[in-house]
Amino acid sequence: MTEKVRAARNRTITLTDAEYRFFSSRLIHLKGISRLEIDDVVNKTINNDLFEVIDALPQPFADLIIIDPPYNLTKDFNGFTFNSSSNSEYLDYLRSWFPKVVALLKPTGSLYLCGDWKCTSALQEVMEENLIVLNRITWQREKGRGALRNWKNGMEDIWFGVKNPKDYYFDVEAVKMKRKVIAPYKENGQPKDWEATENGNFRLTYPSNFWDDISIPYWSMPENTDHPTQKPEKLIAKLILASCPANGIVFDPFLGSGTTSVVAKKLGRNYCGIEMNTEYCCWAEKRLQIAEADPSIQGYTGGVFWERNTLNAQQTRKKGKI
Ligand SMILES: C[S@@+](CC[C@H](N)C(=O)[O-])C[C@H]1O[C@@H](n2cnc3c(N)ncnc32)[C@H](O)[C@@H]1O
Repeated sequence: MTEKVRAARNRTITLTDAEYRFFSSRLIHLKGISRLEIDDVVNKTINNDLFEVIDALPQPFADLIIIDPPYNLTKDFNGFTFNSSSNSEYLDYLRSWFPKVVALLKPTGSLYLCGDWKCTSALQEVMEENLIVLNRITWQREKGRGALRNWKNGMEDIWFGVKNPKDYYFDVEAVKMKRKVIAPYKENGQPKDWEATENGNFRLTYPSNFWDDISIPYWSMPENTDHPTQKPEKLIAKLILASCPANGIVFDPFLGSGTTSVVAKKLGRNYCGIEMNTEYCCWAEKRLQIAEADPSIQGYTGGVFWERNTLNAQQTRKKGKI
């Protein structure tokens, strides 16, 4: 458990010893089980190594699979170090589990696979070996210091694939974005495709495969944990709303701090996550409990996604602060 001195406005989710005991008692630990039913795993956090349980999971049970694996970088996940290797060794690692995860996807399901510039070619290869690739989303990842002898890394990829390109769920209306209109064009004196409000001019737009409206969780955000590679809830919300029907099942085999399960719950979907680290699983369970009382997702309000900082500015203006 984390015992750090934190600033007063720091909202990072942490665990007391009592919470650790409470939330760890909710986790599923599977040992020596050869066959699991859907009810055994749905809306559960499975605290196991993926390789111990992958063969026992029910096939196929997921409408949507979101995979945020260790990237090809040396990274410490709370005592377990994933070591960077050659591209071909990393590809072998992906091939050791990816086809088994794909087998858990329903025939009409979708799968998203996350990575950075360095591992993205291996991700593309393993996606094309196992699925029909429909797109690569690139999102702007604004965090971290600049590099002195290289370009600072400011983007990541998410590969999008399906089993059947003629029959898969996709709800583009659910992931529209509200953008500020820079040059408000009028026709016959009326706004063309935009709306004038007391807080400025806005247009609802269809999302492209470049996302520049995402903030990485940081210390003053209520979703923040100490996980080293936590994904933003807003990012995962787009994937779930577009690619999982209401009441469908979202599966994440590398759950980390629980973002996929938490967002699925907030959006009325079912979830299942696997994570080998017990403390991360407990953060996930605590976030799931918080989600029961507060299902809000920062940057997603009123059924639309807002550009970075525009929503807060609007709310502040309404309160008469600016
Ligand atoms: C990139 S992180 C996922 C972060 C997550 N998306 C979040 O928002 O917090 C990858 C996670 O996979 C876990 N992991 C790595 N290898 C694993 C394995 N073989 N089985 C289960 N979990 C594993 C690590 O502990 C780490 O938390």
